[in-house]
Amino acid sequence: MSSNGICDQVAIVGMGCTPFGEHWDKSVGDMLIESTTEALSSAGITHDDIDAYWLGTMGNLSGLTLSEPLKIKYKPVTRVENFCATGSEAMRNAAYAVASGAYDMVMAVGVEKLKDSGFSGLTTGAPPGDGTKAMTTAPAHFSMLAPAYFKKYGLDDDTGKEVISKIAQKNHENGAKNPKAQFQKPVELDKIKASPKVAGHLGIMDCSGVSDGSACAILVRAEDAHKYTDKPIFIKALSFVAGPAEGPMTQDYDFTTFKEVEESAAEAYRQAGVENPREEISMAEVHDCFTPTELVLYEDLGFSERGKGWEDVMDGTFALDGSLPVNPDGGLKSFGHPIGASGLRMMYEMWLQLRGEAGERQIDEPKLGLTHNLGGRPGQCVSFVSIVGSEPNSKN
Ligand code: COA
Repeated sequence: MSSNGICDQVAIVGMGCTPFGEHWDKSVGDMLIESTTEALSSAGITHDDIDAYWLGTMGNLSGLTLSEPLKIKYKPVTRVENFCATGSEAMRNAAYAVASGAYDMVMAVGVEKLKDSGFSGLTTGAPPGDGTKAMTTAPAHFSMLAPAYFKKYGLDDDTGKEVISKIAQKNHENGAKNPKAQFQKPVELDKIKASPKVAGHLGIMDCSGVSDGSACAILVRAEDAHKYTDKPIFIKALSFVAGPAEGPMTQDYDFTTFKEVEESAAEAYRQAGVENPREEISMAEVHDCFTPTELVLYEDLGFSERGKGWEDVMDGTFALDGSLPVNPDGGLKSFGHPIGASGLRMMYEMWLQLRGEAGERQIDEPKLGLTHNLGGRPGQCVSFVSIVGSEPNSKN
């Protein structure tokens, strides 16, 4: 069973994104106003033109979170949540609503304000359980990928640490070119390697930060797209899967892959007609919540052969000037992860890159971009993959 897909039926015609970081002086409403105002002005429209809204947020329980600050009068506002893939889920549902013909123009917006809440990777955030479920932190869960990968593919600890540190270095280098990132400084490899330990092989510099932010997209049917912008971007694929969460209970799961990512990627490639992702995808934004996550994702997304992702890291394949730039905007590593906003923040980079508006980070003539957003933990997760392009009816 799979989706019929909506390849080239829906286009994004406006986007907005706040700077991500510690916004002590801004409310959730303030950030929503900021990201939606930028999106509306990029499409040259007002709220009167929007028929329906999808809001992705983990911490705010209803559509009123959006309708109150934006003063939306009596229109549908649907609040969605799907772990860390919440922002992507808002966009996926909004896109299907346009494709169905129910609405002409919709808005998908994501937001989270984490800093004030005290959210941290050092706590589990869950109340004590009955002892039958692991009560480990997010960095602890994802740290297990590193020794499993190193052992399976014959990397000693020093080489393994070098590989994951290079991923952090790459993403900070890209973030240093991004005025909207939380962390805008390049970080030297030695400093990354020596950063204080958080869990297993992971130091602070292997973790995404904690931040506040919001991002927004406006979607219409593809045939209407040029009414609003000269440079729309077209949705080629939207794929989402939830796994059976068997990882912690089966001997078969070895912590070197996310089956959910493999499945969602295969489905997205099928919808978009992509046969060789390494050659056909121009760039990707992936869910680098922790550095070993990004390493494993290269292989699950089909960018690297199994067991060879680490060699591609050492060769610079995924650097901004490499053959397949990954996280050109700096990723979760440089932006932090305000949960509901991240999936749409990834799409914002595709929007800039495909329109040739990414400034210092601009990739040479990208055609197809991929976003990947993960929620949960290794062996127990949900995964989202989108593919977008600058031209309709053409994958290249
Ligand atoms: N990457 C790079 N720099 C970071 C950073 C990170 N992840 N976290 C903090 N910093 C920087 C801060 O900017 C600050 O720099 P400054 O001294 O120049 O101002 C310094 O490190 C200390 O910041 P602080 O806020 O005190 O760090 P912390 O110890 O409270 O937080 C972590 C560090 C790793 C605990 C936190 O970033 C974290 O919890 N990350 C994981 C979040 C998570 O699990 N998300 C869920 C993903 S599934």
